[in-house]
Amino acid sequence: MTGVETEHKGWLGRSVKRKEDARFIVGRGNYIEDIVLPRMLHMAILRSPYAHAKINSIDTSAATELPGVVAVVTGELLAEHKLAWMPTLSGDTQAVLATDKVRMQGQEIACVIAEDRYIAHDALELIEVDYEPLPAVISPQAALDPTAPVIRDDKEDQTDNKIYHWEAGDAEATEKAFAEADKVVRLVTHYPRCHPAPLECCGCVADVNPATGKVTIHMTSQAPHAHRTVFALVTGLPEQDIQIISPDIGGGFGNKVPIYPGYVVATAASLLLGRPVKWIEDRTGNLISTGFARDFYMDGELALKQDGTMTGLRVKMLSDQGYAYADAQPSKFKAGLFHIVTGSYDIPAAHVVTEGAYTNKAPGGVAYRCSFRVTEASFFIERLVQTAAYELGVDPAELRRQNFIPADKFPYTSATGFEYDSGNYEPALDQALERVGYKKLREEQKRARKEGRLIGIGLASFTEVVGAGPSRQFDILGIKMFDSAELRVHPTGKAILKLGVKSQGQGHETTFAQIVAHELGIPAEDVTVREGDTDNTPYGLGTYASRSTPTAGAATSVAARKVRDKAKKLAAHLLEAAEDDLEWETGKFFVKGAPDRAKTIQEIAFAAYTDHPEGMEAGLEAVNYYNPPNMTYPFGSYAVVVEVDRGTGQWDVKKVVAVDDCGTRINPMIVEGQIMGGLTEGYAMAAMQLITFDEEGNCIGSNFTDYLLPTSWETPSFELGETTTPSPHHPIGAKGVGESATVGSPAAYVNAVIDALWHLGVKNIDMPLTSAKVWEAIQAAEAAPGG
Ligand code: CDP
Repeated sequence: MTGVETEHKGWLGRSVKRKEDARFIVGRGNYIEDIVLPRMLHMAILRSPYAHAKINSIDTSAATELPGVVAVVTGELLAEHKLAWMPTLSGDTQAVLATDKVRMQGQEIACVIAEDRYIAHDALELIEVDYEPLPAVISPQAALDPTAPVIRDDKEDQTDNKIYHWEAGDAEATEKAFAEADKVVRLVTHYPRCHPAPLECCGCVADVNPATGKVTIHMTSQAPHAHRTVFALVTGLPEQDIQIISPDIGGGFGNKVPIYPGYVVATAASLLLGRPVKWIEDRTGNLISTGFARDFYMDGELALKQDGTMTGLRVKMLSDQGYAYADAQPSKFKAGLFHIVTGSYDIPAAHVVTEGAYTNKAPGGVAYRCSFRVTEASFFIERLVQTAAYELGVDPAELRRQNFIPADKFPYTSATGFEYDSGNYEPALDQALERVGYKKLREEQKRARKEGRLIGIGLASFTEVVGAGPSRQFDILGIKMFDSAELRVHPTGKAILKLGVKSQGQGHETTFAQIVAHELGIPAEDVTVREGDTDNTPYGLGTYASRSTPTAGAATSVAARKVRDKAKKLAAHLLEAAEDDLEWETGKFFVKGAPDRAKTIQEIAFAAYTDHPEGMEAGLEAVNYYNPPNMTYPFGSYAVVVEVDRGTGQWDVKKVVAVDDCGTRINPMIVEGQIMGGLTEGYAMAAMQLITFDEEGNCIGSNFTDYLLPTSWETPSFELGETTTPSPHHPIGAKGVGESATVGSPAAYVNAVIDALWHLGVKNIDMPLTSAKVWEAIQAAEAAPGG
């Protein structure tokens, strides 16, 4: 029983139940922790308590002597094999195990390999490390001060803490727009560091067969093929002997894109010891050392005419990168796609200046449920537009509407160089306003204010850019960004689809089968989708940044169409008709004007192996490596209503309306699930999530009592709406959606709180808007002159 609906013809836009859920619900998923191999050893990692310190010595003798310990690996040992440092996916380097210094709290110092996990962890306490603490640099502003210690003194040419300087747009045209502006509105804000915190932490089982040299690494990887290539390049092992298997993954959200020291040491240990080695990360290890997200300081201005027309935008951004630049950004774009910061607006001139700095913190900046740094951009422009509306004294919805890129201007080239494929922003905004009851709410807000109650209505009309990407612009470490599908139809008409992407919960096994069903008429339950095994799937760049549907989804369509082309030749042979005389109706070819003379796709598949014409290759299969001609640009308008308690600063969400447009929806139920997840994550960032550091660089947010995940108790209810503006270049018109709500919603929540407080004099509060911060802002505004 798959639970898959079959009683219908159309396969797109159908809420087919998720195939994968059956095994998850009954506890038969196959996660890293479920993998147990004969003679398997266990690895535990010793982490630095200091954010910045010199390592004078590491004494592993007592740990080595503990019964059950098989080996203790240090950076010194790895250095002998040239493995003490590894490249990051952004072209920087990162320590595997520290040798000279530690540069962040939680940095990996040594690994114990033991017969069981408890012994491995016990032995960690027996390792003696002599540290010499150094001053920690905990903000990018401090890092850029000329007196700051140089964090990456391991790099020969690095004389300061600067990582990159990257600009987009036209400085001169933007200066001119500002010189001629009637009104300039400024916003300075910080999108704080937060963490994807997938329910399953990272881990691996590395298995190097000493007899064959075959390296099998079962690992929590969102990008198994790219990881295999990096492993081959770093270790010098032959790539064909490395197999990466990414089994079921308990959430990734960008956190499982980087390569972590744990994977590398477990593999090196398995190679040295000739036995499989398992590493399962604990929660604190995950929160303090693996890919964080955001941490952008943004300062920007919007130039406007008196009538509210936007004429220019300039933004400066400073990024806190941690001690290594390890974002996995496409190599051309140093600050990801932050320059999409013009958002949904027709702003003729824009200039964006970005800088990245090293600090004594964990590296990251991963695409946490967003396309490369688009969340930060979307947050900034939506907060800035809201601020501009108040300063001009106009309605925030109307200011947006007035400046939207008009529907007839698509495809649209933005001032920072993006080519928006399609869009129609007003209907989405109208629907959000209508559903939330905007007009009435504004009246209610006025009445409530008279009673001293604080009601706020926040909007965000975001545009995303997802689906990296066209190979001419996008690569990771030089590997061009495309994705792939291999479709094989078996003699009985059932099919197997193998993909280069890798689901971490997005429902690929269902939706990609629906695409095949749509193209070929083979029912979705007859199509098995396989991902995540580099020996058995075509090369791809993986799943993150909402790229699966725009890339692998398109590859699936194209592969299926190639199969259909061959099926047509087979049908012509079977029906003794000319190919030109055949017509296709989902699932069968028939002779024009004689619908009874038909062959179903299943009959054709059988013939492909039993009755194919002379000179034709047997079989019915196709492969496609899809290089998208452009990114896709999903968008939406969100409206959030809050009530703020003046006495405590607590804010309750009264209503959330989210209208999304991701072009053709393959599976509306899955799309809605993605959006609800994103709205929940957006709420968490706006309300409660923060990873911060004290002056010594101690990470505050290293566990789930400090780093708060929203439960069903706090999470508001969501009302979802939809418009449909297909992508003109995607074979089935689908745009990505996986990240949209996390990108779009934080600004809507924050805008709602500020909307409630602006008249009191509260103009901005940086996320997360904890009740204490909101209360303090109200107190400060009331105490200010005229407050
Ligand atoms: O790359 P990732 O799978 O995370 O993101 P995505 O392709 O943007 O979308 C997440 C999931 O939503 C997809 O895997 C599909 O299952 C589904 N989806 C859909 O049904 N229709 C769309 N137009 C976009 C996504």
